[in-house]
Amino acid sequence: MRWFPRAVSSFRRGGEEVLPSPNIWYYQKAYEVENRAQDVDDDIWRVLAGYREWSGADVLDIGCGDGFHLPRFAATARSVVGIEPHEPLVRDARDRVAELRNVEVRQGRAQRLPLPDAAFDVVHARTAYFFGPGCEPGLREAERVLRPGGLMMIVDLDVASEPYGRWMRLDLPHYDPPGVEKFFARQGFDCRKVMTRWLFEDAAAMEAVLKIEFSAPVAAKAIAEVRRLNEVSSASGEKQVTLPVGYRVHTRTKPTGLVVPGHSVSSADAASGVASSASPRMP
Ligand SMILES: C[S@@+](CC[C@H](N)C(=O)[O-])C[C@H]1O[C@@H](n2cnc3c(N)ncnc32)[C@H](O)[C@@H]1O
Repeated sequence: MRWFPRAVSSFRRGGEEVLPSPNIWYYQKAYEVENRAQDVDDDIWRVLAGYREWSGADVLDIGCGDGFHLPRFAATARSVVGIEPHEPLVRDARDRVAELRNVEVRQGRAQRLPLPDAAFDVVHARTAYFFGPGCEPGLREAERVLRPGGLMMIVDLDVASEPYGRWMRLDLPHYDPPGVEKFFARQGFDCRKVMTRWLFEDAAAMEAVLKIEFSAPVAAKAIAEVRRLNEVSSASGEKQVTLPVGYRVHTRTKPTGLVVPGHSVSSADAASGVASSASPRMP
């Protein structure tokens, strides 16, 4: 995570629109191991589906990386589009979904989506730190491409959680979890915390992943803690390694009509032209 504070602050200044993601850009094999280890009990997926089932829906995944989550959506969605700025990952995401006829991957970025207005029912972004304080242009774009009543869901790691969040804070001393929460609340998002379990085949897989996520001293500390946490199971010959990891799920629904005191416009009215040009919850 040594790269993270520098990347986030330059992003906030508006300097770089694409946030460098060294974990997946340079250590893609270990990142695949990480993605496979994450949320093995489907805790996040259950929470997402509880907000908005995507069967038959049009889904957009922003910052889709090499497309790990696209097939999961595609299994029941009508269509899925993945957006990713980093060209090598765009190619790999396309390879991953080559057999899936309802999925398309496009090169692009959150702040300028190469997509038409009101084309999606669900916009998803996972561990996508370009959605955080300073990301208003990306949020406006997500709102633009959502249909009225559509849902935006942003999933990220809970920096306030134990133990993973504590390791993150060691590498990010200036990161302000309550400030980030306030930012999302001001933008009209609800936040739900979700505790999950990561499951690795063995200790070597766990170590490879923690080494791409943290600086060397913090990774060493995290690895030692996870080894201690798993002592009981390894003593009984169990090779697998588990790790509790907390996430936040931020959600915001695009209004179906303009609500002003004493008057409301439904989506049906809006479709017939009785609409306003502004969404009341937009920044
Ligand atoms: C940590 S990775 C997560 C990838 C994927 N969502 C997953 O869970 O496997 C973050 C991704 O966001 C992409 N990214 C960075 N800046 C972006 C931006 N401005 N708009 C869209 N994607 C961006 C990176 O290239 C990277 O693939």
